Amino acid sequence: MFKPMFIRSGQGNALKRLMAYTRPHKLRFAVAFSFLLVAVSAEMAIPWLAKIIIDDVIVPQTFDWHHLLTLSAAVLVLYLVQCGFQYLQAVSFRHSALLVVNDVRKQLFNHVLKLPISAFDRTATGRMVSYVTNDTESLRDLFVSTLPTIIQGSLRITGIFVAIALLDWRLMVLSLVLIPILLMTMHWYRKLSTPVLDGIRVQVSHINNRISESLQGMSLVQAFGQEKAFREKFKHDNDGWFAFRTRSIAIDSLMLLPFTRLVGAFAALAIVAWFGTASLQTVVEIGTLYAFLNYIERFFEPFRQLSMELRKMQVALVSSARVFELLDEPTDEAHKEDVASVSLADNKDIEFRHVRMAYEEGINALDDVSFVAKSGQFTAIVGHSGSGKSSVVNLLMRFYQHHEGEVLIGGKPIQTLPDSQVRQLIGLVSQDPYMFSGSIKENIDLSLSAQSSNAAMLAAQAVNASSFIERLPQGYDHQPGHGGASLSVGEKQLVALARVLAHGPEIYLLDEATANIDSETEEAVKRALSNIQQGRTVIAVAHRLSTVRNADQILVMSKGKIVQRGTHDELVSQTGEYRELYLAQKEKEEHESENAHLGLATA
Ligand SMILES: Nc1ncnc2c1ncn2[C@@H]1O[C@H](COP(=O)(O)OP(=O)(O)OP(=O)(O)O)[C@@H](O)[C@H]1O
Ligand SMILES: [Mg+2]
Repeated sequence: MFKPMFIRSGQGNALKRLMAYTRPHKLRFAVAFSFLLVAVSAEMAIPWLAKIIIDDVIVPQTFDWHHLLTLSAAVLVLYLVQCGFQYLQAVSFRHSALLVVNDVRKQLFNHVLKLPISAFDRTATGRMVSYVTNDTESLRDLFVSTLPTIIQGSLRITGIFVAIALLDWRLMVLSLVLIPILLMTMHWYRKLSTPVLDGIRVQVSHINNRISESLQGMSLVQAFGQEKAFREKFKHDNDGWFAFRTRSIAIDSLMLLPFTRLVGAFAALAIVAWFGTASLQTVVEIGTLYAFLNYIERFFEPFRQLSMELRKMQVALVSSARVFELLDEPTDEAHKEDVASVSLADNKDIEFRHVRMAYEEGINALDDVSFVAKSGQFTAIVGHSGSGKSSVVNLLMRFYQHHEGEVLIGGKPIQTLPDSQVRQLIGLVSQDPYMFSGSIKENIDLSLSAQSSNAAMLAAQAVNASSFIERLPQGYDHQPGHGGASLSVGEKQLVALARVLAHGPEIYLLDEATANIDSETEEAVKRALSNIQQGRTVIAVAHRLSTVRNADQILVMSKGKIVQRGTHDELVSQTGEYRELYLAQKEKEEHESENAHLGLATA
């Protein structure tokens, strides 16, 4: 009945899809519904019994005490039944609803885990978080309050009509007039409130963004003395929110109760007046009139609730559209966890053949890249910022797909291997070492199991991370805080190195893994790597050329292409990019050591 009027186009589908989530819990919903049915029937019978008391006992003044007591007891029982079942239906509806939201949220997070990394480039993290938390929360509203209210409201309205029809069919026909009137007021309410409520939502998201942005960049805000500017911007958003909220209160206070009541009361008065004149010809029992007015009185409550809930429903439908948009984002086909591994040759050479890759169509991040990184050898990739070094890493980890050419591991095209196998095979230390919440130990061994906790410590010792970890107040149980906030960048890199060592892969992929580590520790890392290097492939991206001096092969990248390749000695003796980089760094190092001699700080 409300559909064409209150559901915007395209939301019908979302609603249908949402309803599909109730299917696994349909028995629970059916039970909740039957509780509701009992509660509403009891509620509807009460004015009816009152009518009988008035017409049979009070008006004829017979005072049949026995009859009166039985009827009164029945009213009491009905009230108890109504309350009891009202409670039961509320609990069971809400319980089933929470199960549904729980399912949606789990499904959504599982889906997010399987999304290709490129999907995260397109959607800001904050928005993704909001999808999984806020939007599923408004779905909770839909299932926990809106749907039960709509069902209950519709049942009550139907019940009231049936009861009025049983009282007197002419009353029922006249009461039908109320329906279009009330629907019109609901419609006006929606028209007035939609822009205001949309405005509130926009303002709230502005406020959220503003807060998270300032919190993340707090040191910048304070360092540049921008507190005043940020305060002003925040005040602006907050005032906007206040203005919308005030308008919304005005509209709700007017439309939801006084106005609906007024319109309804006029209509009811007209009906009673008409009925009064009609009863001059026929006898209308006073009890009937009482029951009628009582029913009409009950009529407004579901309408008022429906007006409010339909609004929430719209918000929930918009939210669910966003949730479904995320759920419809295609996942990586290869990203299945239980696919059988492909058997590979013992030699796990990595080969790029004429590989082209672009993050955005038309701009090649890698262009005709070919190289072989032999098993057991140390291959280094150097080059200016943005030259495509991390993109090689991204392809090998299968975070992104290449567009042309072939990427082979052990002779097999990478796309024929399941992602889980690739990631088992290759251990990555990424350019931006990330820390999860939890202890250092948990961060080294992400799946933390008792027997591997020892392995975590051995790994930390191997990369010389143990010396800083043991200095921490709780050692390996130290909690480095959100994103590893209490660790320096170099310390985070050491933890990331220990993590990959504990993981025990066959191929090591290091993207600037030692860029922020002092030279002494770097030596320890190198020793650790050369210890484990036997029979293993290492591909290391490095800015500092001293790190790659002993590489078996150095690839020099520029603008997505490999422009030079060879060993350090070969490359230094040629004119070209490598030699320039080398000379520039050497000069810088000499300069630094000179300054250090003079006791000057270097930038
Ligand atoms: N997720 C992305 N979306 C769009 N473009 C990207 C993305 N990642 C990298 N690029 C672009 O691709 C090019 C190569 O980037 P890449 O990260 O491979 O450089 P890099 O050699 O690792 O640089 P750096 O030394 O600074 O780490 C750059 O021009 C960069 O702007
Ligand atoms: Mg990089």
